[in-house]
Amino acid sequence: MRIYILPILIGFGLIFIFNFCKKEETNIPIDFKSPILDPSLNYIHTSRFQGQVNPNEPLDNVLTNAKIALGRVLFYDPRLSKTSTVSCASCHKQNFGFADNLPKSIGFNGQPTKRNSMPIINERFNFSFFWDARTRKLEEQVLMPVADHIEMGMEDLDKLEAKLEAVNFYEPLFYKAFGYSKPTLDHIGKALAQFIRAIPSENSKFDQAIGLGFSNFNAQEVFGMTLFREKANCNSCHNIIHPLVNFSETTLLTTNFVNGNMTGSGYVSSTTSEGVNIGLDKASSDLGMGNGKFKIPSLRNLDLTAPYMHDGRFATLMEVIDHYDSGIQNNEHLDDRLITNNKPQKLKLLPHEKEALIAFLKTLTDYSIVQDKKFRNPFN
Ligand code: HEC
Ligand code: HEC
Repeated sequence: MRIYILPILIGFGLIFIFNFCKKEETNIPIDFKSPILDPSLNYIHTSRFQGQVNPNEPLDNVLTNAKIALGRVLFYDPRLSKTSTVSCASCHKQNFGFADNLPKSIGFNGQPTKRNSMPIINERFNFSFFWDARTRKLEEQVLMPVADHIEMGMEDLDKLEAKLEAVNFYEPLFYKAFGYSKPTLDHIGKALAQFIRAIPSENSKFDQAIGLGFSNFNAQEVFGMTLFREKANCNSCHNIIHPLVNFSETTLLTTNFVNGNMTGSGYVSSTTSEGVNIGLDKASSDLGMGNGKFKIPSLRNLDLTAPYMHDGRFATLMEVIDHYDSGIQNNEHLDDRLITNNKPQKLKLLPHEKEALIAFLKTLTDYSIVQDKKFRNPFN
Protein backbone atom coordinates (compact mmCIF):
# COMPACT_ATOMS: atom_id res chain seq x y z
CA MET A 1 0.00 0.00 0.00
CA ARG A 2 2.66 2.47 1.12
CA ILE A 3 4.38 2.19 -2.23
CA TYR A 4 1.28 3.72 -3.85
CA ILE A 5 0.67 6.46 -1.29
CA LEU A 6 4.12 8.01 -1.62
CA PRO A 7 3.92 8.85 -5.35
CA ILE A 8 0.36 10.15 -4.85
CA LEU A 9 1.56 12.44 -2.06
CA ILE A 10 4.48 13.64 -4.16
CA GLY A 11 2.08 14.25 -7.05
CA PHE A 12 -0.23 16.37 -4.92
CA GLY A 13 2.77 18.19 -3.49
CA LEU A 14 4.00 19.07 -6.97
CA ILE A 15 0.56 20.27 -8.05
CA PHE A 16 0.39 22.42 -4.94
CA ILE A 17 3.83 23.94 -5.49
CA PHE A 18 3.05 24.52 -9.18
CA ASN A 19 -0.19 26.35 -8.37
CA PHE A 20 1.46 28.34 -5.63
CA CYS A 21 4.14 29.54 -8.02
CA LYS A 22 1.53 30.41 -10.61
CA LYS A 23 -0.24 32.62 -8.08
CA GLU A 24 3.01 34.29 -7.17
CA GLU A 25 3.69 34.88 -10.82
CA THR A 26 0.51 36.88 -11.36
CA ASN A 27 1.75 39.22 -8.65
CA ILE A 28 4.88 40.03 -10.58
CA PRO A 29 4.26 43.19 -12.55
CA ILE A 30 3.76 42.03 -16.09
CA ASP A 31 4.06 45.33 -17.79
CA PHE A 32 7.35 47.05 -17.45
CA LYS A 33 7.48 48.15 -21.06
CA SER A 34 7.64 51.77 -22.14
CA PRO A 35 4.34 53.51 -22.73
CA ILE A 36 3.26 54.29 -26.26
CA LEU A 37 1.93 57.82 -26.57
CA ASP A 38 0.48 59.47 -29.64
CA PRO A 39 1.63 63.13 -29.50
CA SER A 40 -1.24 64.21 -31.78
CA LEU A 41 -3.91 63.42 -29.17
CA ASN A 42 -5.66 66.57 -28.05
CA TYR A 43 -7.29 66.57 -24.63
CA ILE A 44 -8.19 70.21 -24.51
CA HIS A 45 -11.69 71.08 -25.61
CA THR A 46 -14.49 73.41 -24.70
CA SER A 47 -17.06 71.71 -22.55
CA ARG A 48 -20.81 71.55 -23.10
CA PHE A 49 -21.02 72.87 -19.56
CA GLN A 50 -21.79 76.41 -20.66
CA GLY A 51 -18.39 76.76 -22.28
CA GLN A 52 -16.68 76.12 -18.96
CA VAL A 53 -13.41 74.29 -19.33
CA ASN A 54 -11.99 73.53 -15.88
CA PRO A 55 -13.59 75.51 -13.08
CA ASN A 56 -11.48 73.88 -10.35
CA GLU A 57 -8.18 74.30 -12.20
CA PRO A 58 -5.63 76.12 -10.03
CA LEU A 59 -3.66 78.95 -11.62
CA ASP A 60 -0.38 77.14 -11.08
CA ASN A 61 -1.51 74.02 -12.92
CA VAL A 62 -2.94 75.09 -16.23
CA LEU A 63 -4.04 72.29 -18.52
CA THR A 64 -1.64 71.20 -21.26
CA ASN A 65 -1.54 68.09 -23.42
CA ALA A 66 1.98 67.25 -22.19
CA LYS A 67 0.90 67.24 -18.52
CA ILE A 68 -2.17 65.14 -19.26
CA ALA A 69 -0.10 62.64 -21.27
CA LEU A 70 2.31 62.28 -18.33
CA GLY A 71 -0.65 61.97 -15.94
CA ARG A 72 -2.04 59.17 -18.07
CA VAL A 73 1.23 57.20 -17.82
CA LEU A 74 1.35 57.71 -14.04
CA PHE A 75 -2.31 56.67 -13.70
CA TYR A 76 -1.61 53.31 -15.35
CA ASP A 77 1.83 52.70 -13.81
CA PRO A 78 1.87 50.06 -11.02
CA ARG A 79 5.23 51.45 -9.84
CA LEU A 80 3.22 54.04 -7.94
CA SER A 81 2.40 51.33 -5.40
CA LYS A 82 4.82 49.93 -2.84
CA THR A 83 4.85 46.45 -4.41
CA SER A 84 4.62 47.74 -8.01
CA THR A 85 1.47 45.67 -8.44
CA VAL A 86 -1.40 48.17 -8.20
CA SER A 87 -2.02 51.28 -10.29
CA CYS A 88 -4.79 53.85 -10.05
CA ALA A 89 -6.43 51.97 -12.90
CA SER A 90 -6.64 48.79 -10.82
CA CYS A 91 -9.60 50.36 -9.02
CA HIS A 92 -10.61 53.01 -11.56
CA LYS A 93 -11.16 50.99 -14.72
CA GLN A 94 -12.02 52.60 -18.04
CA ASN A 95 -14.59 49.94 -18.98
CA PHE A 96 -16.46 50.62 -15.72
CA GLY A 97 -16.54 54.40 -16.17
CA PHE A 98 -13.29 54.64 -14.16
CA ALA A 99 -14.92 52.92 -11.17
CA ASP A 100 -14.61 49.28 -10.10
CA ASN A 101 -17.24 46.55 -10.38
CA LEU A 102 -16.58 45.27 -6.86
CA PRO A 103 -18.27 46.59 -3.70
CA LYS A 104 -14.78 47.07 -2.21
CA SER A 105 -11.60 47.18 -4.29
CA ILE A 106 -8.44 45.26 -3.49
CA GLY A 107 -5.33 47.19 -2.49
CA PHE A 108 -1.61 46.45 -2.98
CA ASN A 109 -1.47 43.92 -0.12
CA GLY A 110 -4.70 42.10 -0.99
CA GLN A 111 -6.78 43.89 1.61
CA PRO A 112 -10.17 45.40 0.69
CA THR A 113 -10.61 49.17 0.66
CA LYS A 114 -12.85 50.75 3.25
CA ARG A 115 -15.34 52.06 0.69
CA ASN A 116 -16.58 51.52 -2.85
CA SER A 117 -14.27 52.93 -5.53
CA MET A 118 -15.69 56.16 -6.92
CA PRO A 119 -16.17 56.70 -10.61
CA ILE A 120 -13.95 59.42 -12.04
CA ILE A 121 -16.54 61.62 -13.74
CA ASN A 122 -16.23 65.28 -14.64
CA GLU A 123 -13.93 65.84 -11.70
CA ARG A 124 -13.11 69.27 -13.10
CA PHE A 125 -16.55 70.41 -11.92
CA ASN A 126 -16.15 69.03 -8.40
CA PHE A 127 -15.04 71.03 -5.41
CA SER A 128 -14.82 68.16 -2.95
CA PHE A 129 -13.45 64.65 -3.27
CA PHE A 130 -14.09 61.24 -1.67
CA TRP A 131 -17.42 59.95 -0.30
CA ASP A 132 -16.97 62.09 2.79
CA ALA A 133 -15.76 65.17 0.85
CA ARG A 134 -12.63 65.24 3.02
CA THR A 135 -10.45 66.93 0.39
CA ARG A 136 -11.00 70.10 -1.54
CA LYS A 137 -8.07 70.19 -3.92
CA LEU A 138 -7.58 67.61 -6.64
CA GLU A 139 -3.80 68.13 -6.69
CA GLU A 140 -3.68 66.96 -3.06
CA GLN A 141 -6.33 64.28 -3.44
CA VAL A 142 -4.46 62.33 -6.11
CA LEU A 143 -1.47 61.57 -3.89
CA MET A 144 -3.61 60.27 -1.04
CA PRO A 145 -4.33 56.84 -2.59
CA VAL A 146 -0.60 56.47 -3.31
CA ALA A 147 0.24 56.89 0.37
CA ASP A 148 -2.84 55.04 1.65
CA HIS A 149 -1.83 51.98 3.61
CA ILE A 150 -4.49 49.83 1.94
CA GLU A 151 -4.68 51.26 -1.56
CA MET A 152 -1.07 51.67 -2.75
CA GLY A 153 1.05 51.65 0.40
CA MET A 154 3.76 54.21 -0.51
CA GLU A 155 3.54 55.62 2.98
CA ASP A 156 6.92 57.28 2.56
CA LEU A 157 5.98 59.38 -0.47
CA ASP A 158 9.49 60.76 -0.92
CA LYS A 159 10.65 57.32 -2.05
CA LEU A 160 8.37 57.64 -5.05
CA GLU A 161 10.49 60.39 -6.60
CA ALA A 162 13.61 58.21 -6.56
CA LYS A 163 11.66 55.18 -7.75
CA LEU A 164 10.39 57.03 -10.83
CA GLU A 165 13.73 58.73 -11.45
CA ALA A 166 15.21 55.29 -12.02
CA VAL A 167 12.79 54.66 -14.90
CA ASN A 168 14.22 55.91 -18.19
CA PHE A 169 11.10 56.91 -20.05
CA TYR A 170 9.94 59.37 -17.38
CA GLU A 171 12.71 61.91 -17.86
CA PRO A 172 11.55 63.31 -21.24
CA LEU A 173 7.90 63.12 -20.17
CA PHE A 174 8.49 65.23 -17.05
CA TYR A 175 10.66 67.61 -19.04
CA LYS A 176 8.03 68.13 -21.70
CA ALA A 177 5.32 68.69 -19.11
CA PHE A 178 7.14 70.88 -16.59
CA GLY A 179 10.49 71.91 -18.12
CA TYR A 180 12.22 69.92 -15.36
CA SER A 181 13.23 66.32 -15.93
CA LYS A 182 13.36 65.00 -12.35
CA PRO A 183 10.09 63.61 -10.97
CA THR A 184 8.96 65.65 -7.97
CA LEU A 185 5.91 64.95 -5.82
CA ASP A 186 4.50 68.33 -6.75
CA HIS A 187 4.72 67.53 -10.47
CA ILE A 188 3.43 63.96 -10.02
CA GLY A 189 0.36 65.36 -8.23
CA LYS A 190 -0.20 68.04 -10.84
CA ALA A 191 0.05 65.66 -13.79
CA LEU A 192 -2.28 63.09 -12.21
CA ALA A 193 -4.80 65.81 -11.37
CA GLN A 194 -4.74 67.03 -14.97
CA PHE A 195 -5.35 63.57 -16.40
CA ILE A 196 -8.30 63.14 -14.07
CA ARG A 197 -9.67 66.57 -15.01
CA ALA A 198 -9.46 65.61 -18.66
CA ILE A 199 -11.85 62.65 -18.30
CA PRO A 200 -15.26 63.93 -19.42
CA SER A 201 -18.84 62.73 -19.25
CA GLU A 202 -20.85 65.16 -21.29
CA ASN A 203 -22.03 63.41 -24.39
CA SER A 204 -24.77 61.24 -22.95
CA LYS A 205 -28.20 60.92 -24.54
CA PHE A 206 -29.38 63.48 -21.98
CA ASP A 207 -26.69 65.97 -23.03
CA GLN A 208 -27.60 65.53 -26.68
CA ALA A 209 -31.29 65.97 -25.79
CA ILE A 210 -30.72 69.49 -24.53
CA GLY A 211 -30.03 70.82 -28.00
CA LEU A 212 -32.83 68.73 -29.49
CA GLY A 213 -35.71 69.62 -27.18
CA PHE A 214 -35.69 65.97 -25.99
CA SER A 215 -36.88 64.73 -29.39
CA ASN A 216 -34.29 61.92 -29.08
CA PHE A 217 -35.99 60.60 -25.91
CA ASN A 218 -38.61 57.86 -26.16
CA ALA A 219 -41.86 58.05 -24.19
CA GLN A 220 -40.53 55.92 -21.34
CA GLU A 221 -37.46 58.13 -20.88
CA VAL A 222 -39.56 61.31 -20.88
CA PHE A 223 -41.88 59.72 -18.30
CA GLY A 224 -38.86 58.71 -16.22
CA MET A 225 -37.53 62.27 -16.26
CA THR A 226 -40.89 63.56 -15.01
CA LEU A 227 -40.91 61.00 -12.20
CA PHE A 228 -37.32 61.96 -11.35
CA ARG A 229 -38.37 65.57 -10.86
CA GLU A 230 -41.83 65.05 -9.38
CA LYS A 231 -43.21 61.85 -7.82
CA ALA A 232 -39.81 60.32 -6.93
CA ASN A 233 -38.30 63.70 -6.04
CA CYS A 234 -34.75 62.66 -6.86
CA ASN A 235 -34.17 66.15 -8.22
CA SER A 236 -34.22 67.69 -4.74
CA CYS A 237 -30.71 66.31 -4.24
CA HIS A 238 -29.42 65.14 -7.62
CA ASN A 239 -30.35 68.39 -9.41
CA ILE A 240 -31.03 68.50 -13.11
CA ILE A 241 -31.37 72.21 -12.72
CA HIS A 242 -30.75 74.67 -9.99
CA PRO A 243 -33.77 74.78 -7.68
CA LEU A 244 -34.19 78.49 -8.30
CA VAL A 245 -34.47 78.17 -12.06
CA ASN A 246 -37.87 77.28 -13.47
CA PHE A 247 -37.87 74.06 -15.41
CA SER A 248 -38.06 74.51 -19.13
CA GLU A 249 -36.09 73.08 -21.96
CA THR A 250 -34.29 76.36 -22.49
CA THR A 251 -33.11 76.67 -18.88
CA LEU A 252 -31.77 73.12 -18.78
CA LEU A 253 -28.02 72.88 -18.48
CA THR A 254 -25.71 69.98 -18.79
CA THR A 255 -25.15 69.18 -15.14
CA ASN A 256 -23.50 66.61 -12.95
CA PHE A 257 -26.69 65.69 -11.04
CA VAL A 258 -25.30 66.70 -7.70
CA ASN A 259 -26.76 69.24 -5.36
CA GLY A 260 -24.85 72.32 -6.27
CA ASN A 261 -24.53 76.01 -6.47
CA MET A 262 -25.17 77.96 -9.59
CA THR A 263 -22.14 80.15 -9.91
CA GLY A 264 -22.02 83.45 -11.74
CA SER A 265 -20.77 81.77 -14.87
CA GLY A 266 -23.56 79.25 -14.91
CA TYR A 267 -22.31 75.76 -14.15
CA VAL A 268 -23.61 73.60 -11.37
CA SER A 269 -20.82 72.59 -9.05
CA SER A 270 -20.65 69.81 -6.55
CA THR A 271 -21.66 70.62 -3.03
CA THR A 272 -18.75 71.24 -0.71
CA SER A 273 -20.33 71.48 2.70
CA GLU A 274 -23.48 69.44 2.63
CA GLY A 275 -23.61 65.74 3.32
CA VAL A 276 -26.80 63.73 3.40
CA ASN A 277 -27.99 60.69 5.36
CA ILE A 278 -30.32 58.71 3.07
CA GLY A 279 -31.38 56.13 5.66
CA LEU A 280 -29.38 53.17 4.43
CA ASP A 281 -29.18 51.83 8.01
CA LYS A 282 -30.84 52.41 11.36
CA ALA A 283 -27.35 52.92 12.79
CA SER A 284 -24.52 53.67 10.37
CA SER A 285 -21.30 51.72 10.80
CA ASP A 286 -19.45 54.19 8.55
CA LEU A 287 -20.23 57.71 9.73
CA GLY A 288 -18.93 59.42 6.58
CA MET A 289 -19.00 63.18 7.09
CA GLY A 290 -20.55 62.54 10.52
CA ASN A 291 -23.94 61.04 11.42
CA GLY A 292 -23.90 58.72 8.40
CA LYS A 293 -23.89 61.63 5.96
CA PHE A 294 -22.23 61.30 2.57
CA LYS A 295 -21.56 63.50 -0.42
CA ILE A 296 -24.32 63.50 -3.03
CA PRO A 297 -22.72 61.60 -5.90
CA SER A 298 -23.14 62.32 -9.58
CA LEU A 299 -25.70 60.16 -11.41
CA ARG A 300 -23.70 60.17 -14.60
CA ASN A 301 -22.39 56.92 -16.11
CA LEU A 302 -24.44 54.77 -13.69
CA ASP A 303 -24.89 52.14 -16.38
CA LEU A 304 -21.13 51.51 -16.15
CA THR A 305 -20.41 51.97 -12.45
CA ALA A 306 -22.35 49.34 -10.45
CA PRO A 307 -22.36 48.46 -7.58
CA TYR A 308 -23.71 51.59 -5.88
CA MET A 309 -23.44 53.64 -2.67
CA HIS A 310 -20.41 54.35 -0.47
CA ASP A 311 -20.17 50.69 0.48
CA GLY A 312 -21.26 49.22 -2.84
CA ARG A 313 -24.25 47.54 -1.18
CA PHE A 314 -26.64 47.74 -4.15
CA ALA A 315 -25.78 45.63 -7.18
CA THR A 316 -28.43 47.06 -9.51
CA LEU A 317 -30.31 50.29 -10.16
CA MET A 318 -33.54 48.46 -9.28
CA GLU A 319 -32.15 47.85 -5.78
CA VAL A 320 -31.35 51.58 -5.52
CA ILE A 321 -34.89 52.55 -6.59
CA ASP A 322 -36.38 50.01 -4.17
CA HIS A 323 -34.38 51.63 -1.39
CA TYR A 324 -35.81 55.10 -2.09
CA ASP A 325 -39.26 53.59 -2.72
CA SER A 326 -39.75 51.55 0.43
CA GLY A 327 -36.40 50.66 2.01
CA ILE A 328 -35.42 53.85 3.86
CA GLN A 329 -34.54 53.18 7.50
CA ASN A 330 -35.64 55.63 10.11
CA ASN A 331 -32.82 57.24 12.04
CA GLU A 332 -32.46 60.58 13.75
CA HIS A 333 -30.17 61.98 11.05
CA LEU A 334 -32.35 61.04 8.07
CA ASP A 335 -32.61 63.97 5.64
CA ASP A 336 -35.87 65.95 5.75
CA ARG A 337 -36.33 65.52 2.02
CA LEU A 338 -36.83 61.79 2.56
CA ILE A 339 -39.42 62.16 5.31
CA THR A 340 -43.20 62.43 4.86
CA ASN A 341 -45.58 62.68 7.86
CA ASN A 342 -42.70 62.10 10.27
CA LYS A 343 -41.88 58.78 8.64
CA PRO A 344 -39.40 57.64 6.00
CA GLN A 345 -41.02 58.27 2.61
CA LYS A 346 -42.92 55.52 0.78
CA LEU A 347 -42.95 56.50 -2.87
CA LYS A 348 -45.32 53.69 -3.89
CA LEU A 349 -43.82 53.52 -7.35
CA LEU A 350 -45.52 51.05 -9.70
CA PRO A 351 -43.33 48.53 -11.52
CA HIS A 352 -43.56 50.41 -14.83
CA GLU A 353 -42.64 53.65 -13.04
CA LYS A 354 -39.51 52.04 -11.60
CA GLU A 355 -38.58 50.82 -15.08
CA ALA A 356 -39.12 54.32 -16.49
CA LEU A 357 -36.92 55.90 -13.82
CA ILE A 358 -34.16 53.44 -14.66
CA ALA A 359 -34.58 54.17 -18.39
CA PHE A 360 -34.14 57.87 -17.64
CA LEU A 361 -31.08 57.25 -15.40
CA LYS A 362 -29.47 55.31 -18.25
CA THR A 363 -29.75 58.35 -20.54
CA LEU A 364 -27.17 60.01 -18.25
CA THR A 365 -24.43 57.57 -19.28
CA ASP A 366 -21.76 58.72 -21.73
CA TYR A 367 -20.73 55.40 -23.25
CA SER A 368 -18.03 57.00 -25.43
CA ILE A 369 -15.68 57.02 -22.44
CA VAL A 370 -15.25 53.24 -22.58
CA GLN A 371 -13.84 53.37 -26.11
CA ASP A 372 -11.92 56.64 -25.99
CA LYS A 373 -8.30 55.85 -26.87
CA LYS A 374 -7.13 59.07 -25.19
CA PHE A 375 -7.77 57.45 -21.80
CA ARG A 376 -6.57 53.92 -22.53
CA ASN A 377 -3.69 52.13 -20.85
CA PRO A 378 -0.60 53.42 -22.71
CA PHE A 379 1.43 50.37 -21.64
CA ASN A 380 -0.73 48.00 -23.71
C1 HEC B 1 -7.15 49.97 -4.17
C2 HEC B 1 -8.13 50.75 -4.88
C3 HEC B 1 -7.81 52.17 -5.30
C4 HEC B 1 -6.66 52.62 -5.92
C5 HEC B 1 -5.40 51.88 -6.23
C6 HEC B 1 -6.90 54.03 -6.19
N1 HEC B 1 -8.16 54.39 -5.79
FE1 HEC B 1 -9.05 56.19 -6.04
N2 HEC B 1 -10.59 55.61 -4.89
C7 HEC B 1 -10.73 54.36 -4.34
C8 HEC B 1 -11.79 54.39 -3.34
C9 HEC B 1 -12.24 53.19 -2.49
C10 HEC B 1 -12.29 55.73 -3.30
C11 HEC B 1 -13.32 56.28 -2.33
C12 HEC B 1 -12.58 56.49 -0.99
C13 HEC B 1 -13.34 57.22 0.08
O1 HEC B 1 -14.30 57.92 -0.21
O2 HEC B 1 -12.95 57.13 1.25
C14 HEC B 1 -11.52 56.47 -4.30
C15 HEC B 1 -11.72 57.81 -4.62
C16 HEC B 1 -10.99 58.50 -5.59
C17 HEC B 1 -11.30 59.84 -6.08
C18 HEC B 1 -12.44 60.73 -5.61
C19 HEC B 1 -13.51 60.91 -6.66
C20 HEC B 1 -14.62 61.86 -6.26
O3 HEC B 1 -15.45 62.16 -7.13
O4 HEC B 1 -14.68 62.32 -5.12
C21 HEC B 1 -10.34 60.17 -7.02
C22 HEC B 1 -10.24 61.43 -7.83
C23 HEC B 1 -9.43 59.04 -7.08
N3 HEC B 1 -9.86 58.03 -6.22
C24 HEC B 1 -8.27 59.01 -7.85
C25 HEC B 1 -7.29 58.03 -7.72
C26 HEC B 1 -5.93 58.15 -8.25
C27 HEC B 1 -5.37 59.34 -9.02
C28 HEC B 1 -5.29 56.99 -7.94
C29 HEC B 1 -3.85 56.63 -8.22
C30 HEC B 1 -2.84 57.52 -7.71
C31 HEC B 1 -6.24 56.15 -7.23
N4 HEC B 1 -7.42 56.82 -7.10
C32 HEC B 1 -5.96 54.87 -6.78
C33 HEC B 1 -10.01 53.24 -4.66
C34 HEC B 1 -8.74 53.28 -5.23
C1 HEC C 1 -32.04 63.72 0.28
C2 HEC C 1 -31.11 63.68 -0.85
C3 HEC C 1 -31.26 62.58 -1.89
C4 HEC C 1 -32.39 62.24 -2.60
C5 HEC C 1 -33.80 62.85 -2.51
C6 HEC C 1 -32.01 61.19 -3.50
N1 HEC C 1 -30.68 60.91 -3.34
FE1 HEC C 1 -29.64 59.50 -4.37
N2 HEC C 1 -28.03 59.80 -3.15
C7 HEC C 1 -27.94 60.75 -2.15
C8 HEC C 1 -26.73 60.53 -1.39
C9 HEC C 1 -26.23 61.36 -0.21
C10 HEC C 1 -26.12 59.39 -1.93
C11 HEC C 1 -24.85 58.68 -1.42
C12 HEC C 1 -25.28 57.88 -0.20
C13 HEC C 1 -24.27 56.88 0.36
O1 HEC C 1 -23.52 56.26 -0.37
O2 HEC C 1 -24.29 56.72 1.60
C14 HEC C 1 -26.95 58.98 -3.06
C15 HEC C 1 -26.65 57.91 -3.90
C16 HEC C 1 -27.38 57.55 -5.03
C17 HEC C 1 -26.98 56.59 -6.02
C18 HEC C 1 -25.67 55.80 -6.02
C19 HEC C 1 -24.63 56.49 -6.85
C20 HEC C 1 -23.29 55.78 -6.85
O3 HEC C 1 -22.39 56.23 -7.60
O4 HEC C 1 -23.07 54.82 -6.11
C21 HEC C 1 -27.98 56.53 -6.95
C22 HEC C 1 -28.01 55.67 -8.21
C23 HEC C 1 -29.01 57.46 -6.54
N3 HEC C 1 -28.62 58.07 -5.36
C24 HEC C 1 -30.19 57.69 -7.23
C25 HEC C 1 -31.26 58.41 -6.70
C26 HEC C 1 -32.61 58.37 -7.23
C27 HEC C 1 -33.03 57.58 -8.47
C28 HEC C 1 -33.38 59.15 -6.42
C29 HEC C 1 -34.86 59.37 -6.49
C30 HEC C 1 -35.67 58.17 -6.35
C31 HEC C 1 -32.49 59.70 -5.40
N4 HEC C 1 -31.23 59.21 -5.59
C32 HEC C 1 -32.88 60.57 -4.40
C33 HEC C 1 -28.87 61.74 -1.91
C34 HEC C 1 -30.18 61.72 -2.37
